[in-house]
Amino acid sequence: MRVTASAPAKVILFGEHFVVYGEPALVMAVERRAYVSTEPRADGKIYIRAENVGASGYYSGEGLRTFEAETGGAEAQRRLEPIKVVIEEARRLSGKNLGLNVTVESAIPVAAGLGSSAAVAVATAASAGRVLDLNPSREEIYRMAYEAEKVIHGTPSGIDPAISTYGGTLMYRRGEGVQPLALKVELPLVIGNTGLSRSTGDLVAGVRRLKEKYPSLVEPILKIGGKITAEAVKALETGNLEALGNLMNINHGLLSAVGVSSLPLERLVYAARMAGALGAKLTGAGGGGCMVALTEAGGLGKVARAIEEAGGEAFTATTAKEGVRIEEER
Ligand code: MEV
Repeated sequence: MRVTASAPAKVILFGEHFVVYGEPALVMAVERRAYVSTEPRADGKIYIRAENVGASGYYSGEGLRTFEAETGGAEAQRRLEPIKVVIEEARRLSGKNLGLNVTVESAIPVAAGLGSSAAVAVATAASAGRVLDLNPSREEIYRMAYEAEKVIHGTPSGIDPAISTYGGTLMYRRGEGVQPLALKVELPLVIGNTGLSRSTGDLVAGVRRLKEKYPSLVEPILKIGGKITAEAVKALETGNLEALGNLMNINHGLLSAVGVSSLPLERLVYAARMAGALGAKLTGAGGGGCMVALTEAGGLGKVARAIEEAGGEAFTATTAKEGVRIEEER
C-alpha cells in the first residue's frame, strides 16, 4: 500500500513570537502544499527522500540510530531528522516496526517563515499513520508533527503544525489550541520572499535572551502583541481592512523592537506600503524569509510588482480551506 497525504503552508497574520509566550496569534493556511508518500519496504529500514531540502538517506538498526546519507552529504541527517521523528512516533504508536520508503515533494519555500517543515511533518504523520494502520485523527496527526517541530525549533508554540493540520484561518493560543474563524471574504494578501533562509530556533532563542535581559521592557511588548491579535479578530469580523492594515504595521514595529526584522525584510515591507498596501509586516520567525502585505481590493498587482522591484519574490496568498488530507491510496 502506498499512501500520499498533503498539508498546506501558512502565513501568520498576527502574533508570531509572542505566541511562544502564551499570547494569541492569528494564522491562515495558504494554498501551497507539501506532499508525502509512504509505502512499506521489506528490509526494515526507513528510507527518506526529501528533494526540497536536498537530502536522502537510510535509517536502520536499534532505535533507527544508524544513518547512511544517499544525497545531501553531512547535512542530510540533520535535514531529515524531523521526518524521522514523525516516523518513529507513528511506529511507536502503531506498535509496528515496519520498514518504510518516505518521499517528500513540496512546493513550499524552505526556512522562509511559511511553515514548510510543519507541513511536511503533518503530511508525513498522515501518510505513515495510514500505512501503519493507525488511521490517526487530526489531533493525533497534530501531536506527532508537534514532536518533530520540537526537534528542530527548540521551544515551538505549536502554531505551525496546528494550521497545517486544520487549515482555514485560526486563532491559536498555546495550551488552548485552535479556534477556527469564518472569514466572509478572501483577504487580498501578497507574500514577499526575501530569499534568505534563517533558523526559527535561533530567532526564537534571540527573543528569549532579550526578554531575560530586559524583562520589564519586553514583557509588555509581548502583551501588546496579544492585544493586537484580539483587535485584529474584531477587525476581521467586521471586514475592516483598513484597521487590519494598521494593526499589521503596529505588529511589525513590535517584531522589529524584539530584534527579528532585517534590512531585506524592511525593504520589502516599505516597498509594499509605498505601493499602497494597507499594511505590511514580516511573517513567521523573521530574520529573512517572508513578509506579508494586505492590499485594497484590486491592489494586489501593484504591491506584488513593488515587492519584486525591491528584490523579493511575490505571490498572492489564497486560503487553503482544507488542512491535512489523504490524496491517494493504492
Ligand atoms: C514560526 O512560524 C512562528 C514562531 O512564533 C515560532 C513558534 O510559534 O513556534 C516564530
